[in-house]
Formats: sequence, C-alpha cells, structure tokens
Amino acid sequence: MRLLLSVWTRLQRPPAPTGARLGSGARGGPLAAGDEALIRGSSPELLRDLGSQVEVKTAFITEEEEAALLGELEPGLRKKRYEFNHWDDAIHGYRETERERWGGACEEVLSRVRSVAFPEGCSLLGPVHVLDLDKTGYIKPHIDSVKFCGSTIAGLSLLSDSIMRLVREDAKNHWLDLLLPRRSLYILRDQARFSFTHEILKDEESVFNGERVPRQRRISVICRNLPD
Ligand code: OGA
Ligand code: MN
Repeated sequence: MRLLLSVWTRLQRPPAPTGARLGSGARGGPLAAGDEALIRGSSPELLRDLGSQVEVKTAFITEEEEAALLGELEPGLRKKRYEFNHWDDAIHGYRETERERWGGACEEVLSRVRSVAFPEGCSLLGPVHVLDLDKTGYIKPHIDSVKFCGSTIAGLSLLSDSIMRLVREDAKNHWLDLLLPRRSLYILRDQARFSFTHEILKDEESVFNGERVPRQRRISVICRNLPD
C-alpha cells in the first residue's frame, strides 16, 4: 500500500478535542445521512462545511456479514506477518491484501457499499483493499495518492471500534474526529479526502468525546474509485 499513499507525517498533535458536538439541526447545516453523534470537530462551521463529505453509518453490516467477510479474509491474512519495522511507513503494525473476487454474501455487502458511497457509473478501483491492523497498530496521518485513487474512499470496520482523525493539511487547528464503531461504514469525499489527512489512532490515544474507545485488532475493507 505504500505506493497508494502519499504520506504526510504530522509533527504536532492536533489540539485537545474540545470541539463542538454535532448536535441537532441547529448548527449542523446540511448534515449527511450518517450518525451525527459519531463526528466531532474543531468548530460547528467545519462540521457544517464538511457535513456532506464525511459519513459514518453505524451497523452497516450484520454480525453474520462480518463473520462472512472474516471467513473469506482470515485464511489469507493468517499467512502473512504484521509489519512493524518500516519507520517511514504510513501504517504501523499491519498486514494487508487485495481481493477482486468475493463469495456471494460478501459480494452483496460490497455492492451495498458501492451503491451508497459512489455515484452510479463511476469507475472503481478493481480490487478491494483489506488492511489488518494489529491491536498495537495504527495509521499515521496521510492523504491517499491522488494519482491512484479518486474522490471517494469508503471503508468497513471489522472486529473493533476505532477513531479516525481528519486534520486540514494547511490549517492543523481544523480537525474532525470520527468514531467508527465495529461493523460501521465510513465515507470520505472530495475536500475531506483531498484537503485533510486521515489517520487511525493507536490504542493509547483512542479517546472520543472524553471516553476511552479501546482499540482491538481491526480489519478494514476499503473501496475506492479511480481518478477522473
Ligand atoms: C489507507 C487507510 C483507513 C482504514 O489504507 O489508506 O487510510 O480504515 N485506511 O483502514
Ligand atoms: Mn488512507
């Protein structure tokens, strides 16, 4: 995956998460159809402006569907070792694979992901990317390569809750934290994908709205479209 990423390692931490909670419609503006309480940010304006470009959909897949995905993925993943040693990698403590052909139950889940995340007729990156993060693994701030992927990134989270942080590349005091519950789907589009770095916090830093969100081993199943 190193090819797909253009890494931008942040030296400073984002400010302490004191941002407004995205509440009822009052300050929300054009909210996306996702779960609002799962997104926090540095200001109500940012939440409003990015509202339609960031979505988290809780319980997007059932326990049975999660088990079907894991059943297909685990045998291949188990043969690989977690990578910890590349200090310059965007991802620490991971193993990964790509998959083009899926069994029936999984294919149905993926076509549901595609139909909610991508406009009809847009060209998708053929293979689905599967990233298995060890319990101690994490993803550093980066922006996915604009050469290889288009405007939209959609990911299912298996096995663990986690926190995804978006930080505006040219104004680091502008940030959003997304709580990604196990079995949820997140979607990043346009500015959220191009102008903000995204990262998955390590277990020790995994706190959302003042609450610890223990990070276990986490597998993500990520669909992307092709650049125009
Ligand atoms: C990536 C990435 C996020 C995730 O692989 O580029 O940002 O949900 N993954 O695993
Ligand atoms: Mn990424």
